[in-house]
Formats: sequence, structure tokens, C-alpha cells
Amino acid sequence: MINQNKPILTVQGLSVFFPKKQGLFYKNRSPGQVLFDINLDLFIGRITALVGESGSGKTTIGNALVGLVDHFSGEFQFDGTLYNPLKMSHLRSEIQFIFQDSLSALNPRMTTGQTLNEVLLLHHSSETVGSLLEQVDLYGEITGKYPHEISGGQRQRVNIARALAVNPQVLICDEIVSALDLSIQAKILNLITSLVRERNLAILFISHDLNVVKAFAESIIVLSKGKIVERGDAQQIMNSPQHHYTQSLISAM
Ligand SMILES: Nc1ncnc2c1ncn2[C@@H]1O[C@H](COP(=O)(O)OP(=O)(O)O)[C@@H](O)[C@H]1O
Ligand SMILES: [Mg+2]
Repeated sequence: MINQNKPILTVQGLSVFFPKKQGLFYKNRSPGQVLFDINLDLFIGRITALVGESGSGKTTIGNALVGLVDHFSGEFQFDGTLYNPLKMSHLRSEIQFIFQDSLSALNPRMTTGQTLNEVLLLHHSSETVGSLLEQVDLYGEITGKYPHEISGGQRQRVNIARALAVNPQVLICDEIVSALDLSIQAKILNLITSLVRERNLAILFISHDLNVVKAFAESIIVLSKGKIVERGDAQQIMNSPQHHYTQSLISAM
């Protein structure tokens, strides 16, 4: 039995650096340190939202958790055991990442069915393509379609299904609805909300948009310029934001 009061994934004291590069072309890039002493806990059955304006470091936090960042310090634990993000092949199927760009995340030469089947085979899963599609509210005819033949919302459902195919405990969703119409966004958020419970997932939901997360996240972490400026219960933050940056995010809504 999983202890829901104990975090499944934690990071303590995460700082990330992008080494400054010399030369004309790097003038406005490579800002040096981009994350400062980030502490984060993710819990099974819970959606934790990470919000902040573009460039605040949200994606870099997600990347750091799964070893996509080279220069960092901090302490990472999965299920109570320390791990090194740069040597985490044993955790690959436990932590899945879904991106904003649903099209480039999928192989253009593979149908939905082939994509899902490949992952199921690789992971010796007992699930079927059909049951995966059903869990993301997609139907049989999608199986034979290529990524460019289906809508952005459907593609994002396929990406969610593919992530579920390896039976992860943690799902990192980076701006996964940002490219979708509002009505489609709502449906995907509903799906995420039900999956958290049905599949016992811990979700880090990254978004620049407080409007998106306010209705369905249990807790909210507010990031500004690489630092966490506020965190807490979602309702409490929406009703009485303490930090002026959070206040400005809410008044901009
Ligand atoms: N590969 C990289 N090399 C250099 N700087 C980067 C790289 N990736 C991100 N950055 C910088 O790190 C900061 C945070 O970026 P990012 O995590 O993408 O923010 P967000 O996802 O909140 O928009 C930005 O200043 C960005 O320019
Ligand atoms: Mg980002």
C-alpha cells in the first residue's frame, strides 16, 4: 500500500546553471544560474501545479527531475530513495514527461496504434491499445491514423495514453494544453483529473496560465525568476495570494 502522506518524488535545494558562453551569438542566451534552491514534493493522487511567466524556469525544473539538465545541484528522491537524475534509467518508466507540442512528440510515420503498441511491447505490458485509448476517451478508428490526421486535442490524448502505457507513478505535464482551444483544454483537464485517481498518479502540472490550473490543482507553486515565491493550497492561493508576484498573476487573469 502506497503511503499517500509520503512524497513519491522530492527534490531539495535544486539549483540549475547554464554556463555562460562567449561570442556574438550568445549575447542574450546563457543567463548563468536559472534556478535557485528549489524544493518540491509530489504526492500520489495529487496534482501539483507549477506556474510562472515564460522564462521563470518551469520547464527547467521538469527537465532537471528527469536528467535533461547537466549543471545542477540538489538532492533527488524517488519513493524515499536518493537518485541521480543523470543515471536514472531504472526510473524511466516511473516518471513520464508530456510536452506542449503534441505533433513533434509523435513519430509521423507511425499510426496511433503502432505508437502505443510499440511501448506496450517494450514494457511487456498486459494492457492493450484498446484499453489505453479507452482510458483517454479515444475510440477505435484513431488506431489506424497518423499524427497529422488527428486533431491537437486527440494527439495530446495519444501522448497521455503513451505515457500511461508504461504504468508510471509520476507524470510531468509541461504546458500540455497551451496550444489547444479553450473547450478542448477543459476536456483534457477533466481527463487528467480523473486519471490521477484511477491510475494513482502524482502529477506535476506546469503552466504559465493560472486560469488553467486554478480549477483542478490541489496545490500551487509560484515561480518567478527561478525562485519559488509562494506555495500552498490552490484555493488559499487564489483567494488570498501573499506575494505581490502572485497577486499580479491573478489580477492579470
Ligand atoms: N538550454 C539552455 N541553454 C541556456 N539557457 C537556457 C536553456 N534552457 C533554458 N534556458 C534559460 O533558462 C531560463 C528558464 O527557462 P525555462 O525553464 O524554459 O522557462 P519556462 O519553462 O518557465 O518558460 C530562461 O532564461 C531560459 O532562457
Ligand atoms: Mg517552459
